[in-house]
Amino acid sequence: MSLANTPDWQALARLAEIARNVHLRDLFATDAERFAHFSLRDEGLLLDYSKQRVTADIMAALRALWPAADGPGWTARMCAGEPINHTEGRAVLHTALRHQDDTPVFHANSDVMPDVRRVLDKMENFCGAIHQGRWRGASGERIRDIVNIGIGGSDLGPRMASAALAAHHLPDLTVHCVANLDAADLAPLLLRLDPARTLFIIASKTFTTQETMQNAASARAWLTAALGEAAVARHFVAVSTNLSAVAAFGIDPGNAFEFWDWVGGRFSLWSAIGLPLALAVGMDNFRQLLAGGAAMDAHFFNTPIERNLPLTLALLELWNVNFLGAETRALLPYSQSLALLPRYLQQLEMESNGKHVDRAGQSVTYASAPILWGEAGTNGQHAFYQLIHQGGRLIPCEFIALIEPDFTLPGHHAKLLAHCFAQSEALMRGKTLAEATAELAAAVPPAPSFIAPYKVFPGNQPSTTLLLPRLTPYTLGQLIALYEHKVFALGVLWNLNSFDQWGVEYGKQLASRLLPMIEGNTPATGLDSSTAGLLAACRDKP
Ligand code: F6P
Repeated sequence: MSLANTPDWQALARLAEIARNVHLRDLFATDAERFAHFSLRDEGLLLDYSKQRVTADIMAALRALWPAADGPGWTARMCAGEPINHTEGRAVLHTALRHQDDTPVFHANSDVMPDVRRVLDKMENFCGAIHQGRWRGASGERIRDIVNIGIGGSDLGPRMASAALAAHHLPDLTVHCVANLDAADLAPLLLRLDPARTLFIIASKTFTTQETMQNAASARAWLTAALGEAAVARHFVAVSTNLSAVAAFGIDPGNAFEFWDWVGGRFSLWSAIGLPLALAVGMDNFRQLLAGGAAMDAHFFNTPIERNLPLTLALLELWNVNFLGAETRALLPYSQSLALLPRYLQQLEMESNGKHVDRAGQSVTYASAPILWGEAGTNGQHAFYQLIHQGGRLIPCEFIALIEPDFTLPGHHAKLLAHCFAQSEALMRGKTLAEATAELAAAVPPAPSFIAPYKVFPGNQPSTTLLLPRLTPYTLGQLIALYEHKVFALGVLWNLNSFDQWGVEYGKQLASRLLPMIEGNTPATGLDSSTAGLLAACRDKP
């Protein structure tokens, strides 16, 4: 039976009929303890979802979906290393990468933990060698610049986390990230770098991704032009599951950091894909990130649904998308250090759950992942918040703020928090015509009353606020794992395979067919008139 026809789903549809006519303002007016009733705390994290358009009845009905979807069973199958990514025949065991105790984690009847620890130790040795100057460039110079070349899951995690942990960076080493196939990403960076002091990390799960292979080849050509072929061994390392392709590229397998096909690309920050981060902040801090992720795993696996943070976020998203009709969610970190979090979560959430076929291969009759977008506050306030407040669309918002700042300057943090909380209050309350009119009348000098309708805010825009005590490697680990489990839970609730990504393959196929035509090596035939016209415009340059 389709999910949308189940009794649980239909009960929620009836509750949504009522909820559509209830304003958040009234929910707060009738329950002075609403914050206490609709907020959760765990290990220093605070999730306030009292400004979501839910009631106790709605939350109870939503929670019933999890056992009905066999959430506990899917969680157990994931942790047991079963191939729950059934279209690729792969297990989903990224939690093993941050597993903290001595118990085994099995995949195909063998414990993966010895391999996980071996690679972590190898990372630790390598980071120590770079930091202490024992690993030097081919001409004996210390390494000062690290360039991670990767894309998607082999870029976004280390890029976001390195930026997030800027306050923890070690001195004298700068980490850069290059992803785009456009030479405008790599070329200007190379102009600023000294080959003798630069180390490239080629990060690719498959070691076949065209963007990464092209950037790696260009980096290698730049380096060998300056230092000769033999220098590759001191200036290139790789992170991959495909060690034979690493060797074929010319990187010594001794300089390769391995991970495994049971780690999805967008869940791979915890593996050696995190090497640029470990170099930036040191291995102790990287291990703290793993510990924070593991703490969130324990919370997700062991906490009852009523107090479970990832499950609560998943159920609220499902409510907003499937019952209130939201098509997007705005992620609004009031932390400059978390400015890249929206980009990171775009891949995690939209590549995982942006799907229209269920686990049985049937088209789904309900919406899946919403469009995720966002920007650091307060910058977004001066760009797109106007539309969120008065554009007439339902846009659930997710605010993230730090109780203690990671960087301090007098006068900044209190104002930042004031703006963050003011935005969610405004989104919740709105402003009525009567309030706007009274405000104008009270103004000195009095303002013209015709402006009143322009100052009306409908409000009733749902939001969640997540407070972190501070931004540390540990709390960042908690935060990332929180979203990973939310994504997993939503996949279970929507009956999707969250761990494949067939939707990115078709464009790659077509690009391979077009490339020889653009290069002029094969005739441009069999194309639609638009593609043929665009191609001709590039070949016959004006
Ligand atoms: O975008 C598709 C994708 O396969 C992602 O899932 C992955 O993170 C990215 O490409 C990069 O892949 P690789 O690490 O194999 O180069």
